[in-house]
Amino acid sequence: MIPDKAPKEDVFHCPENLKKESHIPSFEKYKEEYIRSIENPDEFWGAIAKDFFWKTKHTGRFLEYNFDVTKGEIFIKCMEGATTNICYNLLDRNVHDKKLGDRIAFFWEGNEPGDELTVTYGELLQRVCQFANVLKSLGVKKGDRVSIYMPMVVELVVAMLACVRIGAVHSIVFAGFSSESLCERIIDSQCSLLVTADGFYRGDKLINLKLLADEALQKCRDKGFPVKKSIVLKHLSKEPEEVVGSQSPPAKRSCPDLELSWNLDVDLCWDALMKGASDQCEPEWCESEDPLFILYTSGSTGKPKGVLHTVSGYLLFVATTFKLVFDHQPDDVYWCTADIGWITGHSYITYGPLANGASSVLFEGLPTYPDMSRMWAIVDKYRVTKFYTAPTAIRMLMKYGSEPVQRYTRKSLKVLGTVGEPINPEAWQWYYSVVGEGRCPVVDTFWQTETGGHVLTPLPAATPMKPGSATFPFFGVVPAILNDSGEELEGPSEGYLVFKQPWPGVMRTVYGNHERFETTYFRKFPGYYVTGDGCRRDEDGYYWITGRIDDMLNVSGHLLSTAEVESALVEHKAVAEAAVVSRPHPVKGESLYCFVTLTDGATYNATLEAELRKQVREKIGAIATPDYIQNAPGLPKTRSGKIMRRVLRKIACGEKDMGDISTLADSGVVDELYRNRCCTTA
Ligand code: WT7
Repeated sequence: MIPDKAPKEDVFHCPENLKKESHIPSFEKYKEEYIRSIENPDEFWGAIAKDFFWKTKHTGRFLEYNFDVTKGEIFIKCMEGATTNICYNLLDRNVHDKKLGDRIAFFWEGNEPGDELTVTYGELLQRVCQFANVLKSLGVKKGDRVSIYMPMVVELVVAMLACVRIGAVHSIVFAGFSSESLCERIIDSQCSLLVTADGFYRGDKLINLKLLADEALQKCRDKGFPVKKSIVLKHLSKEPEEVVGSQSPPAKRSCPDLELSWNLDVDLCWDALMKGASDQCEPEWCESEDPLFILYTSGSTGKPKGVLHTVSGYLLFVATTFKLVFDHQPDDVYWCTADIGWITGHSYITYGPLANGASSVLFEGLPTYPDMSRMWAIVDKYRVTKFYTAPTAIRMLMKYGSEPVQRYTRKSLKVLGTVGEPINPEAWQWYYSVVGEGRCPVVDTFWQTETGGHVLTPLPAATPMKPGSATFPFFGVVPAILNDSGEELEGPSEGYLVFKQPWPGVMRTVYGNHERFETTYFRKFPGYYVTGDGCRRDEDGYYWITGRIDDMLNVSGHLLSTAEVESALVEHKAVAEAAVVSRPHPVKGESLYCFVTLTDGATYNATLEAELRKQVREKIGAIATPDYIQNAPGLPKTRSGKIMRRVLRKIACGEKDMGDISTLADSGVVDELYRNRCCTTA
């Protein structure tokens, strides 16, 4: 499946100097290790597991599983019998066994330039133990779920690892989500506690996060699910002298503009709780398949799915992918620009880097604030060597040309990475030649919330790159391409991307709904995990992701389901029916094009349009704000009443040729929609 030799033509090769220090220095080595990982997983992963601490060793096979729904329930078990604690492996092991207590775990860079802090592994361990004791004192026990709704601050990492230390299950909700979304997630995972913050700045915009958290808790109460306690970090409202564990005083953290409400029955102050807490906390030893965390991702029915990851397999998989895909070296400074609220931040800001004792930048702000050079200013400031971002950010910065990039040297950079959506070759080239000046391999990493870590990806010193291709499978991963009848295609081909067997980091279930897990990923083609992505394999065996082939769309690297946005729209009293499709967007990749049919008596005007945008923002969050809304007195439907989205997609894209519309009940509708289509964004 993987070619014997890497192709010589039309590819970008890794610079020789990088190969010298690399873990996987050639394509031959990659191929050899890949075969070993598939033919002898027990030996391959067993050797990796030796680097970590196990309270008790596993018994039996490394992986046990059933991937075939026709043979019974789907399950994946990794390292059964072993007990460990991930927090212990990330912190205690690095501090005590490896003597890395003084190494910097995070360089925290705030939204404002000059607002900065550092945290060492030793300090992080102390603060995590303290917070773990705080959680325990509030009655949080092993297996309990804790919701975390916080900005990009070190305390977010402290909160997540404190949960891990006591065996509680964190469910992090991205701070850009609405109160409605937070409420839905708290109830779905039955969280007993919320950890949040007063507020934060995104560029020059002040976000009162506490207000949103309060609204969410009120909604939970209204729905009969009262959350008893909420721990609130005073990130903005704290006075400089209150900052704990800082080496340099923070510049602009006190914030007179923030109104802070306080509910004495529910709210507890983070700092006050931490003051009295001991920094000694024995970790809870967990079974390999105990739940580690829940993270919600959009589902095509509109209701988000609580993706559940478990302990041992996830640890080994993210530690190994981080080490090899970024070719981690002890003197690296690594920076992933994602938010911890997404899986990229879980796996490649917290778990993967800390498992490797890496020093990382943790950035609170925006790539465009205070100016278009911010990313490169940070790269130079911390001498970042490995840099990981999203195609949408690259395309956005590309619009401003190379000048803002060239204001800084970027000479420390060695490896560049991308994730979140297919990267168009033009953006790849710009990233490679302008940002990396042709010195740095670009690792285009394909994966999903569900896969836990990278599944298709180049290795920087081993894989010759083709711009736009995620290249080859990571160790332990066996991809295949299927046609509509579920037959595996060989050689150059295009179809559904599936995986034939589990790898350690694959999700284990949808929280509270195993049936949905099986239906979503395993029923369409029995025997395979179905990604929902289309994929092409070229004559050299390279994989090219062609995008989602279900009712999902990817806006700026964030997955949304059309059903989710439609249900937010129809909740407005003026909307009778809504249909949402994707329209390609030069920066965001895809954008939301919404058709709405109004109820009798309602009139379409600018006020209504603004209300609809607001409605979706409040229901889901700003990432789901519709780009285009079109008044659709009629929608193209089949005689049986099914909306023909294919036709709507063409209208949204301004394509005249509708293809076969013979099943359409009323073809006049199409012409009218086409005539009135939106050409510009709001
Ligand atoms: C979907 C998963 C994995 C973290 C970020 C998104 C798309 C992701 C790539 C890539 C082409 C990509 C896929 C996938 N995707 N990375 N390198 N090339 N497409 O996580 O929200 O679970 O989304 O993102 O469509 O299925 P997610």
